[in-house]
Amino acid sequence: MIQHFLTLLDLSDVQAQTLIQRAIELKAKQKAGEIHEYFRNKVMGMIFDKSSTRTRVSFETGMVQFGGHAIFLSPRDTQLGRGEPIEDSARVLSRMVDIVMLRTFDQENLERFAEYSSVPVINALTDMYHPCQLLADVQTYVEHRGDIKGKTIAWIGDGNNMCHSYINAARLFDFKLNIATPTGFEPDTNILQAAGDRIMLTTDPAQACQHADMVTTDVWASMGQEEEQAQREAAFASFQVDDNLMKLAQKDALFMHCLPAHREEEVSATVIDGEQSVVWDQAENRLHAQKALIELLLNQK
Ligand code: CP
Ligand code: NVA
Repeated sequence: MIQHFLTLLDLSDVQAQTLIQRAIELKAKQKAGEIHEYFRNKVMGMIFDKSSTRTRVSFETGMVQFGGHAIFLSPRDTQLGRGEPIEDSARVLSRMVDIVMLRTFDQENLERFAEYSSVPVINALTDMYHPCQLLADVQTYVEHRGDIKGKTIAWIGDGNNMCHSYINAARLFDFKLNIATPTGFEPDTNILQAAGDRIMLTTDPAQACQHADMVTTDVWASMGQEEEQAQREAAFASFQVDDNLMKLAQKDALFMHCLPAHREEEVSATVIDGEQSVVWDQAENRLHAQKALIELLLNQK
């Protein structure tokens, strides 16, 4: 059976730890100008049903650094966008390319694609999860502060795809996660319950931030929820990560945001542009962490 990466939980604990260390190594190689074309002539198919800056550029750049190539496929230009079944697209594409990444709406569509694909498939964001981002986030934490195991992370805002991936990361990397969401915007109950008592759920951002080693947030309206923007702005008004909230966390707490960010909505400019923020390292690490992921998936027997 092929190993795919549809959620973080497709990785074993050992694979996850090894991947983070490998991402750090690959970053060092890149910085040293060391050529590491381990995957010459390998091709990645990149299917985007939603917009992207970081994900597209990091995967495409990663494949080039590995000596391979990536093909950007949008529904505007492909038969997928004109209704060719996912199963057929998966069978055809995977006979040509060596690995596929897919950014789409339903997790179920991603799973269906993977079921019919003869090559590894990567979740590059769905409505349910964003696991690639978590690899970069954990790498960033480890680089700045060492092991994330046993640490306390505060998630402030929407119980969305990023929040779900943080819950899975808490299981995989064994950290505590305090989640503060407004009533009605909680994460999925099944995902939450599976993570057990590592998770504390509250409607009070201040409670979630108490003694946290890291604070993170995300947009209030995700891609596909644009029409709910105004209603969400009202519901999340008291959930902005600002200096007062950061003061409740540990003195050396890091601030992360997967980006794109809306300053003065989910985060104040003083926090995202302040000294505790590591968002640019976090964004860069998408490249290195995903290269480690590509390597893991392409090297599988
Ligand atoms: N964080 C993230 O996935 O960014 P993009 O939407 O720009 O890919
Ligand atoms: N929750 C956001 C993350 C963007 C990277 C979204 O899905 O739009």
